[in-house]
This record gives sequence, C-alpha cells and structure tokens, in this order.
Amino acid sequence: VSAPAAIKLPHPVLLAPGAFDQIGLVARTVAPNHRIVAISDLNVAKLYGRPITNALRGADNEIATPGEFVAFELDEKRKTRESWANITDRLIETGYGRDTVLVAVGGGVVGDIVGFVAATYMRGIPFVQVPTTLLAMVDASIGGKTGVDTPKGKNLVGAFHAPAAVVIDPTVLGTLPQQHLRAGFAEVLKHGIIADATYFDVAATFIGASQLNPGPVPPEMTDIIRRSVEIKAEIVSRDERESGLRKILNFGHTIGHAIEAASEYHMLHGECVALGMIAEARLAERIGVATNGTARAIESVCKAAGLPTSFPQMNTDLLLEFMHGDKKAREGRVEYALPKRIGEMAGSESGWAIRVEDGDVRGVLAA
Ligand SMILES: NC(=O)c1ccc[n+]([C@@H]2O[C@H](COP(=O)([O-])OP(=O)(O)OC[C@H]3O[C@@H](n4cnc5c(N)ncnc54)[C@H](O)[C@@H]3O)[C@@H](O)[C@H]2O)c1
Ligand SMILES: [Zn+2]
Repeated sequence: VSAPAAIKLPHPVLLAPGAFDQIGLVARTVAPNHRIVAISDLNVAKLYGRPITNALRGADNEIATPGEFVAFELDEKRKTRESWANITDRLIETGYGRDTVLVAVGGGVVGDIVGFVAATYMRGIPFVQVPTTLLAMVDASIGGKTGVDTPKGKNLVGAFHAPAAVVIDPTVLGTLPQQHLRAGFAEVLKHGIIADATYFDVAATFIGASQLNPGPVPPEMTDIIRRSVEIKAEIVSRDERESGLRKILNFGHTIGHAIEAASEYHMLHGECVALGMIAEARLAERIGVATNGTARAIESVCKAAGLPTSFPQMNTDLLLEFMHGDKKAREGRVEYALPKRIGEMAGSESGWAIRVEDGDVRGVLAA
C-alpha cells in the first residue's frame, strides 16, 4: 500500500491479489541474510502449505537461504504462554539464531503469537505478517501489537513489536468460513465509523451487493482492505503506544470485550464488536454525544453483514464487572471511545475517552 502523502505507514504493506507468491522475496528483502521460518496453524497449513513452501523457496536459484515451514496446532484457546514457549523452544532446539526472520501466516491468533515470539526471541528478531483472515488483514496485522492471553483475560501479556513488512493477498479470503468473513467486516465498519463516513458507505454497498458470500473474492475487496489499512496505519503512526488518538480504535470494544468474555469466547471477536458498536453508539446518543440515528445506521449495516444485532441474554452485572476489569479502565471508572456521528469520533478534548456512569450503561444494556 502506498499511502497518501499525509499518511505515514508504520511498516511497508504489500497488498495485491497473488501477493502470497512474494512472501519469500519480501522476507529476504526486509531481512537480508536471515534464515526464514514461516509459522502457521494447521488449518492454514492444510490449505496453503504448498504455496507457502514454494514462495519461500523462491523462483531464483541463487537464493542460498531456503525457508523452513512449520505448522503448529493453534487456535483461540491456544493464544497462550504455552504456545509461545513451544514455538520458542522449537526454534532454540533447531538452532535458530538472531539472524532469523519469522513469517506469521494466518489469522490474528497466529500473528499475535508469532509476533510475540519474534519480540522476545533473543531480545527481538524481525518478523513478517501474512494475515489470512479479513480481521487480521484490516486490523490485527497492522500496528505492532503482539501478545498472548492468560486465564485472567485476553492480551494481558505482550509487547509492541512492529512487523518488518505485511503481505496481504485478498484471494486467500476465498477459503475463509463465511462467519469469519462477516466478523472481519465488523472491524471494517469500525474504521468507517471512527474515521471515514464515505468508506462506511462503500463497505455497506459492498456488503449489500456481495452478501459476503463465500467463493471467489471480488476485486473491490482489495480496495476495502486498502482503506482499512490506511485508516488503522494513520491512527497508529500518530500514536504508536496508545496514549491518545489510538483509543478511538477501541470503539465498540469496551462493551464488545465484555460480551466476548461473558460468552466464554464462544462468540467471535467481530460478532462481539458489532454488538459493542451498537451498544456504545446507543450510549453515545443517550448521553447526548452522538447524533440521533448513529446507532440505527450501524445496526442496519451490521445486520446486512450477517452480524448479530440482538443482544444475547447476559447478566448486566457480569458485563459491567468485565468492563471494570478491562485494562482500559481508569481508576475503576469506565471510559469509552464514542462516536459523534458516522465518520467522526467525540472526545478530542478529553484524550478521546469519555467517562460514562454505569447507570447509563445499564440503561442501554437493559433496553
Ligand atoms: N494485534 C492486534 O492489534 C489485534 C487486533 C485485533 C485482533 N487481534 C487478535 O486476533 C485474534 C483473532 O484473529 P482472527 O479473527 O483472525 O482469528 P483466527 O486467527 O483464530 O482465525 C480464524 C480461523 O480461520 C482459520 N483461517 C485463517 N485463515 C484462513 C483462510 N484463509 N482460509 C480458511 N481458514 C482460515 C484459522 O485457522 C482459524 O480457525 C484474537 O486473538 C485477537 O485478540 C489482535
Ligand atoms: Zn477488534
């Protein structure tokens, strides 16, 4: 992605149908004379093991450093310290040194774990993100947050470690289960809501036309991914350590994460974010921050995308408990990133976070 002049990408992003073939070339370019280890989960390895291996080998026989491809059994329950330790130990046992570049091929789970291994391996080695879910393409692979979950909560252990490059091949979305494609659109819509009303409309039109049906990926998908990458990259590059502006990326996530935890992670992240965005937009309307109709507009596009829009039966006390336990909570009070309207966030004066009384949150969740 070559961003418009005003946007500084925090790391190079190669986005194109067929970019998968360039994985080895990109790794060699950003980390010359390094040994390459590509790491994936079993699903992705089954589908793409051969193209990955071919891409690592490279077309060019002069290349003296063929990459190795290893697939680990990873899933959401395994974004754990144990997975981090297993991968790390295996690299140590195989004798990989500081001159190693890791290539994370997979969804956000693979990206987060492999990124965290790279952040800590021998005090930090380069890595390349090759996101294969929509959520990872438009969100998780951009910005350099890496980490693992603990039994007490998600993403509690981690590091900021920016990838040396990100390689995005939209055609691999053709094999992504529809539920995951839909979940990824929650983050696409979030980017429109927080930064670009036109993009929100473009995404809504795409959803209406394609119905997000599985199968060959329409060319417009590349443009949708590009704009999301730009929006996230711009926000992150202006605030790499989440002291201010980056908080707007949390829109929908304070309530969304609580729903995710209360569902014991049976619901997908994007599904919970959709519900969180609807609830937080209602909250913003209730306290007079957002224009009336903002929540309804979000709800209607989420519905069209096949995302959940009606709230599961959940204990409000439990949800609030999760929200207070959230590491974004300050002094036991809960702050939210709230919209003014589609395309614009509120709270530029207060560091993009607005403190809201639990009573108002209860009111919204009860409605
Ligand atoms: N680092 C960040 O900034 C950031 C941001 C958002 C989310 N995340 C993290 O991302 C994780 C969720 O990521 P996710 O939604 O990508 O889930 P995931 O990594 O679990 O992938 C979803 C499923 O799709 C499979 N899959 C991946 N690519 C495929 C393809 N092309 N075809 C078929 N199947 C494929 C995977 O094997 C998995 O079963 C969470 O742990 C979340 O915390 C991180
Ligand atoms: Zn998210």
